[in-house]
Amino acid sequence: MQVNLNIQYEHLNSIQDLDIDDQDLLKAAIKATAFSQAKYSKFKVGAAAKLDNEAIVIGFNIENVSHSVTVCAEIALLSNIIINHSQHKIVTLALGYNNLKGHSKTPISPCGHCRQALIEYEQQSSNKIRCILGSLDGEIIIINGISNLLPLAFSNAMFNNA
Ligand code: THU
Repeated sequence: MQVNLNIQYEHLNSIQDLDIDDQDLLKAAIKATAFSQAKYSKFKVGAAAKLDNEAIVIGFNIENVSHSVTVCAEIALLSNIIINHSQHKIVTLALGYNNLKGHSKTPISPCGHCRQALIEYEQQSSNKIRCILGSLDGEIIIINGISNLLPLAFSNAMFNNA
């Protein structure tokens, strides 16, 4: 039997096509790239989350000469939220990047490691996260729920599977 997975997302041509709150959140993510420590890759990633109390929290990538020690922007963001805002949930997450070319059209695509961390956060908070994947001045993808970014995800439900 063949099973087809259907993943849905919205595609927009520019930041102007977002409503004003989403524009502000994506701008916050792009602004956060200014704090990124990316001296090895020069690929600055910024993340911004809007919580259920309307607070905006940011994260950015922090690189290390020992490359596997590098922390992605999404992980920095989740750590920030889990430590400082544990009583609140992420409603919308925006990701942006700056590859130092000064412009970019292709929306960022979170790495697998971050998708796994995000899906576990989403499952624990029982709240679908709207995800805005941005570029500096180009196209945008909106994904409703991290499960659309990581189909067939590993989860602890398997620990007790028969
Ligand atoms: N990076 C992130 O911050 N998030 C991702 O989802 C993909 C990759 C960072 C890690 C590293 O500092 C740089 O981008 C290049 O891989």
